[in-house]
Parts: sequence; structure tokens; C-alpha cells
Amino acid sequence: MKKNLLKIIALTVASIMAVSVMSSCGSKKDADTEAEGTNTLTMATNAEFPPYEYYDGKDIVGIDAEVAAAIADKLGMELKIVDTAFDSIIPAIQAKKYDIGMAGMTVNDERLEQVNFSQPYAKGVQVVIVKEDSDITDVDDLFAEGSKHNVGVQTGTTGDIYTTEDIESADLGTVSRFNKGADAVEALKIDKVDCVVIDNEPAKAFVEKNPGLKILDTAYADEDYAIAVAKDNTELLDKINSALDELKADGTFQKIVDKYITAK
Ligand code: ARG
Repeated sequence: MKKNLLKIIALTVASIMAVSVMSSCGSKKDADTEAEGTNTLTMATNAEFPPYEYYDGKDIVGIDAEVAAAIADKLGMELKIVDTAFDSIIPAIQAKKYDIGMAGMTVNDERLEQVNFSQPYAKGVQVVIVKEDSDITDVDDLFAEGSKHNVGVQTGTTGDIYTTEDIESADLGTVSRFNKGADAVEALKIDKVDCVVIDNEPAKAFVEKNPGLKILDTAYADEDYAIAVAKDNTELLDKINSALDELKADGTFQKIVDKYITAK
């Protein structure tokens, strides 16, 4: 792992969620068709990120969608999910266009200057997807002297931020930015990029769907996911943190995770 990432890793809070499985989450999600009232909790996401948020037909489903619905329930609010470009979520939260940003979003210093984050609710790992016969066999191959790889990422993600700094700025290759992680994976399949740097859970989902691809054993960076809220909206932030505490304690949270991620 690169040294400038150690900062991020140092930020990582050990949040162990030892919870028992009970209680169900009979909650509503994607209230798109309902009128938006003061009692609506609006959530901006980018629904290109399985298993956290993705489309199942017309519905946005996934861990974030269900946890947000459970939080809204606790708050006595109606959840409305809005799908938008990943890199427009934080600006939209700052502009108070939506109440929360929830998108498998990594906490980092730069974002902490722009928004507040809830307590972390999940761990993320930036991993590298390659073709099965790739000459890239270890993440360090990307940083080797004289290497010139073209790396695919989703625009504005931490994968983009890290590789831009570690690879593009270090003159060790180029970064190709895509609107969706899935588009970066398509580019990898036709050799337009040499690898894709993306979060581990979507990486697993993409590799499962696309034979001939694999995830390198060595990881790029460890991260925490949290919910973004506008800087001055501390009242909502407090409520979200309490709701998360309760959902973790009563087993609802783990139940949602287990529905989407099968333990290995
Ligand atoms: N964890 C990464 C980040 O915060 C990627 C998140 C991408 N999320 C999404 N819904 N597309 O930058």
C-alpha cells in the first residue's frame, strides 16, 4: 500500500458490529411516486454500486437503500431516493438539495471539509480488477518504476483520487474515468484499460457477472463508509447516528447486510 494512503487508513475507525439477528425491517423505500413533504427524508445516491445501491427493475435496492429506509422509519419519515452522478452527491448535499448522501461513500479529509459524516456503517476496500491473464499480479506492479498502465475508475471516487495521485501524477500511467464502475469494467474487457480500481463488494459483483476477470489478492486501501449530511444540519446527523446505534443493536442492520453479502 502506498504511503499517502496510510493517512486514510489511519482514519479508519475500528467499528465492529457484533449484533444479534432478530427483528425485521418492514420499511418503505423509494417513495418516488409519493408527494414530497416536510416529512420526507431525501437521499442522494448513485445506483451503480451493487450490493449497496443498484436497480432491480425500476426500484433502487441494496444495503444503503434498505438501511436508509430503516433510518427513515425510526425518524418517522418517508424515504425518497434520488439517483445522481456520484461526484455530484456532495455538492448537492452542501447545497441542501437533499438531506443525506448515502452511496458506499468513503470518509476522507477532503470530504470532511465539505460535509459531516455519520458514524461509519461499513468497511470498504479498494481493490484491483484485472483480466485473468493480466501481467499485473500485485497492486505494487502499478507503482513499479517505469510502469505505464491505464487504470479505469469511476469519476470522483476514492479509486479515482488515489490513482490520480499515485499513478497519473507520479507519471506511472494514466487514469481513465467513467460515469459508472460497470463502464470501467466494460473497458477492461475490451483492453481499453489494463485494470479497474474500485470497492471490493461491487468488484465482486462485476467479476461474478463477467467471466475472465479476477480481483488481485493484494488490496489498494482500506476505508470506512458513512452517511453525508450538510455541515450545519447537526440535528439530523445526531438523529441518524442514534438510529444507526439502534439498528446495529437490535440486529436490523446486520440482517440487511446479510441479505446482500454472503459471508465467506
Ligand atoms: N467508496 C468510494 C468513494 O467513496 C466509491 C463509492 C461509489 N459509490 C457509488 N454509489 N457509485 O469514493
